[in-house]
Amino acid sequence: MGRRLNPFVPSPLDVVVKALGEAGLERDRVLVDLGSGDGRVPIAAARHFGARAVGVEVNGRLVEHSLRISRSMGLRNVAFVEGDARYVDLNGVDFVYAYLTTEALEVLKPALLTAGRDAVVITHGYKIRGWTPREVLRIWSDTSYRYHTFYVYRVGDVKRSPEERSGQSGIRALRIDEFVPEPL
Ligand SMILES: C[S@@+](CC[C@H](N)C(=O)[O-])C[C@H]1O[C@@H](n2cnc3c(N)ncnc32)[C@H](O)[C@@H]1O
Repeated sequence: MGRRLNPFVPSPLDVVVKALGEAGLERDRVLVDLGSGDGRVPIAAARHFGARAVGVEVNGRLVEHSLRISRSMGLRNVAFVEGDARYVDLNGVDFVYAYLTTEALEVLKPALLTAGRDAVVITHGYKIRGWTPREVLRIWSDTSYRYHTFYVYRVGDVKRSPEERSGQSGIRALRIDEFVPEPL
């Protein structure tokens, strides 16, 4: 598996808003979308909830698109970073969203475990192998005309293997806290 773990497939906006609400996203909380595509999830978090949101995306053109849209909306509480989601430091992040396959999420596990114990990880459509979700949400979309499943995990619930306890690889991680916008 290369740097690009999965192609861009958008989450329908209506289910994203419902899933973030049910997972407990609130104003000023910090959300990161790992593989943010066209930016819709961080933009929805910022716009509908007043959260401080960051999108990490490997495709620079999608990052430019996301920035254009968020600027045209006048949003000050969202940021986009071109980077590799495998090498992020999620210290200070409250909510992590990922719409990636189970295989891709496996590769992201060390990065996910850099978030604090109270951080909530929301995955769309695919489970994280070996992790037990606190909640499974099935949400109907009026745009895709089907149910979407979301798995809601808490990082503190995860039982870590000895390798996972020893931390990330030697690659310098992208510190997400350096990109988080100021509270509104
Ligand atoms: C299935 S799409 C999800 C897009 C968005 N999160 C959503 O839910 O609408 C997955 C995205 O992850 C990006 N991606 C794949 N590998 C990545 C990596 N290593 N680091 C950052 N982004 C990555 C892809 O370019 C794509 O935009």
